Amino acid sequence: MTPSDVKATLSFSDGSPSMELPIYKGTIGPDVIDIRKLYGQVGKFTYDPGFLSTASCNSTITYIDGDKGELLYRGYPIEQLATQCDFLETCYLLLNGELPSADQKSEFSHLVTHHTMVNEQMQFFLRGFRRDAHPMAIMTGLVGALSAFYHDSTDIHNPEHRAISAIRLIAKMPTLVSMAYKYTVGQPYIYPKNDLSYAGNFMRMMFATPCEEYVPNEVLVRAMDRIFILHADHEQNASTSTVRLCGSSGTNPFAAIAAGVACLWGPAHGGANEAALNMLEDMQKAGGVEKIGEFVKQVKDKNSGIKLMGFGHRVYKNYDPRAKLMRETCHEVLDALGLHDDPIFKLAMSLEKIALEDEYFVARKLYPNVDFYSGIVQRAIGIPVSLFTAIFALARTVGWIAQLNEMIGDPEYKIGRPRQLFTGATQRQVVPIAKRG
Ligand code: SDX
Repeated sequence: MTPSDVKATLSFSDGSPSMELPIYKGTIGPDVIDIRKLYGQVGKFTYDPGFLSTASCNSTITYIDGDKGELLYRGYPIEQLATQCDFLETCYLLLNGELPSADQKSEFSHLVTHHTMVNEQMQFFLRGFRRDAHPMAIMTGLVGALSAFYHDSTDIHNPEHRAISAIRLIAKMPTLVSMAYKYTVGQPYIYPKNDLSYAGNFMRMMFATPCEEYVPNEVLVRAMDRIFILHADHEQNASTSTVRLCGSSGTNPFAAIAAGVACLWGPAHGGANEAALNMLEDMQKAGGVEKIGEFVKQVKDKNSGIKLMGFGHRVYKNYDPRAKLMRETCHEVLDALGLHDDPIFKLAMSLEKIALEDEYFVARKLYPNVDFYSGIVQRAIGIPVSLFTAIFALARTVGWIAQLNEMIGDPEYKIGRPRQLFTGATQRQVVPIAKRG
């Protein structure tokens, strides 16, 4: 990061000594004010719950321009990666900083392909769950459990351990997600097949049974691969920040990624795709397009507590570029399946049109985000709603790993330890219980 010629001066109205704070410039995006010496010099903390104005790190991986609706992975626009590359190329890019050559891609794909199986003992973890357990409850357990099988690669400070853990996690997430699904539908697990693509292998492990083969439809495989690309990384979002903070204690990569899975589950974050599709299906049952006006009225009524799931974003105050690509994928998949008249998709597009013309949403810069259309595509492919967030976790694993490795690889990193503004009781004495009122 480059020191700026501009300085920030902090002065106090009570005559306390003022302080000069250095400002740093990135390659693009907002400058940062370095407050690392603030507490030591003035005995005060900054205050920023939710970190809306706080840069937690210096990163070279993903850049978002929320006002323009732009998303870059290592400088490449998401529109180009989603249409000209596949997910494993994108994984290589996020992990290594450059797109792979043909030979590098072939070697990386071979490595991932030959790590897709999980230890046979893993299946016994699933037996402890009820068959109707939410797949994200299962995934939170399974990903953490991986650390019990790989003592040869849990030293986060060893670059070789970090490299093999990255391959193992990227390779095994599709196997674990499909196992979580098969367990909930009472079907036997399907082992990976090494002659299939990453997305094709996942779809076969999801939909094949021992009774009959499943030949993936190439349009659906491409759509699945694109869903993985669109969800691969997204700067310092809640789950990525969780992974960084968790990993900063020196815990093993599997445990840190498991923490990311747990955070992603929330409906305000990765759980929004499941919530968005449930919202659309409920609207369809309640009357569909004719009832949109009533629903939007409820959303605008603060007392209703109803949010338009799949809309709004902490950073994007313009259209989420991933939502546009997801809407295009919707068209492709529904056309390929002869479902172009799918009522839920038509309802989603009508709802989007109405919301984008309504002053409430325009004034608050609420646009569709990645989760608004992703559920429609996954539902058309045959993915059950309860598995949407697990697939988000599958795709985001590479981003979490890349961000974790970037942090651990930074010699300046320390264990994360935020402070607080304390507004609780000051010191007081314990009264023996016999004398308490
Ligand atoms: C993801 O961070 C990331 O990068 C996340 C993610 C990733 O790839 O990792 O992009 C993935 O999590 C996408 C977001 C998925 N979540 C949803 O779709 C859930 C619905 N959206 C909201 O919960 C909300 O928009 C958030 C949580 C996404 C953002 O919350 P903020 O930043 O607190 O929202 P805001 O402060 O910008 O809201 C401004 C106003 C508020 O109203 P006022 O108090 O000003 O009157 O807009 C309202 C909010 O109440 N608002 C909504 C709304 N989102 C915000 N009103 C109705 N419906 C919504 N969806």
